[in-house]
Amino acid sequence: MATLSTTTMTKALVTGGAGFIGSHTVDLLLSKGYDVRVLDALAPPVHEAGRVPDYLPAAVEFIRGDVRDREAMLGALDGVDVVFHLAAYQDYLTDFSTFFDVNATGTALLYELIVNERLPVQKVVVASSQAVYGEGAYTCPDHGAQYPPLRPEAQLRSKQWDVCCPVCDGPMTYRTTDESQVRPHNSYAMSKYTEEMIAVNLGQRYGIPSVGMRYSITQGPRQSFRNAYSGICRIFVTRMLAGQQPVAYEDGGQLRDYVYVGDVARANVLVLEDERADNQVFNVGGGHATSVLAYGALVAEVLGVDIDIAVPGEYRFGDTRHIVSDISKLRGLGWEPSTPLRQIIAEYADWARQQTGLGDYYAAAEQVMKQLGTVRLAE
Ligand SMILES: NC(=O)c1ccc[n+]([C@@H]2O[C@H](COP(=O)([O-])OP(=O)(O)OC[C@H]3O[C@@H](n4cnc5c(N)ncnc54)[C@H](O)[C@@H]3O)[C@@H](O)[C@H]2O)c1
Repeated sequence: MATLSTTTMTKALVTGGAGFIGSHTVDLLLSKGYDVRVLDALAPPVHEAGRVPDYLPAAVEFIRGDVRDREAMLGALDGVDVVFHLAAYQDYLTDFSTFFDVNATGTALLYELIVNERLPVQKVVVASSQAVYGEGAYTCPDHGAQYPPLRPEAQLRSKQWDVCCPVCDGPMTYRTTDESQVRPHNSYAMSKYTEEMIAVNLGQRYGIPSVGMRYSITQGPRQSFRNAYSGICRIFVTRMLAGQQPVAYEDGGQLRDYVYVGDVARANVLVLEDERADNQVFNVGGGHATSVLAYGALVAEVLGVDIDIAVPGEYRFGDTRHIVSDISKLRGLGWEPSTPLRQIIAEYADWARQQTGLGDYYAAAEQVMKQLGTVRLAE
């Protein structure tokens, strides 16, 4: 197996390295002897006070800057051998251009600088997302493999949660989704797919080995609790720690896979060091499907509370019914998710207990989603 040459100390730039996945990747890189530089804008709401988080090790060279800023990026890339490009704009809000500005244009700038300034960058790993699959893969008994579009609003309003066959409108069974087909349907997902296309296509064209990582819902300590637009773990844990009932949208039967942040960091470093990954995209998932209600029951069990999940018949317009990643391709490189969901939740809960002001952020974010019409009530 061909590997990246690490005979002299390899200098890695991690954009977004002060964030959740970035900081765990930083820790792993340092433990493996890499020299690590972080470029991060310390963007709100994740970094409330614009302060470098305490968990970022002193051994890291930290640059505060924006991935859209040419001078900041040029400075950050100076002397760098490899790049993990993890900085991103992620939200449910309607400022569509910001998604493309940060996630797509920021990535294009990275490649523009490497090519035009003839920088000796040997490899780039970019963060994509399971969101690129939209509703993912299904099988219709009569029409075979399907990649259905977003469920129509009228269907959700009448509490018909399951995805129907786009050909005959009949019932289908969901399948785990491999890397072969994408169907991004929101601005975040489209910007992430654009990001990975920029990386893999420009990387191939200009001889910069690049890898796109499609993470499933990633969980573990340091995940920001200041942004409640996504992230079942932080919402369910923080609600239950506050003695409140969490809300499941639809009927709570939605299936997802959850992956531990330490496993994601291992996947990032593995594809960096293994040339078989060059110019490809990989799912990075937990390998198990869990319903929202089963997830809630597990959170209650781990926290030792007697709180069940409210199912008021609300739905989030644009949500995916089921999405579970097929991780065979990454397994083929020798990667395996290591951490069961129970342990992921326990670690997150321990971390969340050390934070302050949990409930306030959740309530504020929920209010914003209702005002924007993201959360709606079925008839
Ligand atoms: N966490 C997940 O479940 C998940 C799932 C799929 C994909 N991803 C992707 O993984 C990557 C890391 O996500 P995360 O969960 O660690 O997010 P995070 O918000 O914890 O970290 C992102 C970091 O990027 C920084 N940042 C944001 N905008 C920036 C800009 N314009 N310039 C420089 N820095 C900027 C933020 O300050 C933050 O520290 C992102 O690209 C995200 O899209 C995450």
